[in-house]
Amino acid sequence: MTPRLVMVSGGARGLGAAIVRRCLADGHAVSVGARDPAAVRAAFGKAVTAHRFDADDPGSAQSWVDATVAQSGAPDALINNAGILRMVDFTRGEEDDLDALWNVNVKGPFRLIRAALPHLRASGRGRVVNIASTDAKRYRDSSVSLGYVMTKQALLAMTHAVRFAGWDDGLRGTAICPGAIDTEMIANIPGVTPKAQRLQPEDVAEIVSLLLRLPNQASVPEIVVNTRLESTI
Ligand SMILES: NC(=O)c1ccc[n+]([C@@H]2O[C@H](COP(=O)([O-])OP(=O)(O)OC[C@H]3O[C@@H](n4cnc5c(N)ncnc54)[C@H](OP(=O)(O)O)[C@@H]3O)[C@@H](O)[C@H]2O)c1
Repeated sequence: MTPRLVMVSGGARGLGAAIVRRCLADGHAVSVGARDPAAVRAAFGKAVTAHRFDADDPGSAQSWVDATVAQSGAPDALINNAGILRMVDFTRGEEDDLDALWNVNVKGPFRLIRAALPHLRASGRGRVVNIASTDAKRYRDSSVSLGYVMTKQALLAMTHAVRFAGWDDGLRGTAICPGAIDTEMIANIPGVTPKAQRLQPEDVAEIVSLLLRLPNQASVPEIVVNTRLESTI
């Protein structure tokens, strides 16, 4: 496998850190974008380059891409992992929570794809992997956050758009749609999948690893990994 230069957002902890670990084990170079680059350095030392990316700071998407190119060269993979969960529906949560969800889960990936797209196209084998959710595939019931569901469905739409944006240049995009993953995000959410039945971050990182290995001919638009039995996903 030809090693890649992979950009991973939110790589200091949770699923993002597992993806970074797996990319390093696979021999890829990794540029991590995080709100606190010092936390990335504490976790990975000099094995990765650490840059500031804060979805609440619009300019930080372009500056992370530019810094990556300057320090390590042009990236040929972007993993949009950073995301948040806040409870928002017609009776719960505030408008600010909804704005935060759109900013981190949708506008952050949008800006990063925009900024990285010229490099991903130029590589002839670019990859965009968006970490969506089973909530991107359906509205399960009123126990879930409608705000989260809406943003993950938007991220799924964006994944399909990027496939069209880069197809002729060998760019392939995938939305991974996992059920519950055992990270801090769902540690205190009532009604989530019991701990013993959750995915481990490494399980999802394994899928990312596969997607970064597959050739351009193997286009995988979506991968659903459910922890529950549901009729269509
Ligand atoms: N856990 C689940 O059950 C589950 C299931 C399906 C999909 N997902 C998705 O998986 C992805 C990773 O989530 P996780 O489970 O690893 O959650 P997590 O442990 O809560 O980690 C969230 C990550 O997002 C980053 N982040 C939050 N706000 C940010 C901002 N404004 N700008 C940049 N980065 C920001 C965090 O960085 P800081 O360290 O700076 O806070 C952290 O790295 C998310 O997209 C999530 O929606 C999770």
